Amino acid sequence: MRRTIVAGNWKMNKTPSEAVKLVETLKPLVASDDVDVVFCVPAIDIVPVVEAVKGTNIKVGAENMYYEESGAYTGEISPAMLVDAGVEYVVLGHSERREYFKETDADINKKVLKALEHNLIPIMCCGESLEQREQGVTMDFIRQQVKIGLQNVPAEQAVKVVIAYEPIWAIGTGKTATTEQAQEVCGEIRKCIAEIYDDATAAAIRIQYGGSVNAKTAPDLFAQEDIDGGLVGGASLKEDFGSIVNYK
Ligand code: PGA
Repeated sequence: MRRTIVAGNWKMNKTPSEAVKLVETLKPLVASDDVDVVFCVPAIDIVPVVEAVKGTNIKVGAENMYYEESGAYTGEISPAMLVDAGVEYVVLGHSERREYFKETDADINKKVLKALEHNLIPIMCCGESLEQREQGVTMDFIRQQVKIGLQNVPAEQAVKVVIAYEPIWAIGTGKTATTEQAQEVCGEIRKCIAEIYDDATAAAIRIQYGGSVNAKTAPDLFAQEDIDGGLVGGASLKEDFGSIVNYK
């Protein structure tokens, strides 16, 4: 049985002191015995947020990471820094990083490998643009992102990876994919994993949906056969996030 995982992606929101306040507000609302809860926060918020979530069920994630161990990479953050600060998850290959910071599938693959080497759980994002959906190439594109992203990742490591399917046209637009659209692609991603690895790996790997998830849409989305939770942007900064975690 796959455990549901609901992760908040704070993006570039909340100063360190605001972050601690938000954690205090959300703490009681996101308590859950059967859902993994992760707050993926800006790098500068990690240390105070790790402190603020102590004694709760909330795990902390980073929103990005570099694939080198250390050295002359001004402005970057290494996996060891994240681990030492108490981070357990890392979002990799978000569409905003692909678009604004020109991250490629090959970069994301290096990051996935490096994160796993340090026992960080990657939340590896994929998703098509509206143009690609209209051109009917959604699955070709996503298969490519998933295949390259997981290149050289052995099956026993791949089962730890969380894949987040986030159609770009649904991110921050208030336009959630229908449950059918979301399930269709997540089901195809699982098939793709079975092709790369085997059925057992495909059955074990967790696939999230992301893109304008809110308290209203979460129950139907998360009930789909191949959707094991969500990656939530805007609504993760509000009390709504509690209802999303406790969607049942
Ligand atoms: P959204 O963002 O929920 O605000 O659409 C999701 C994401 O980008 O991870």
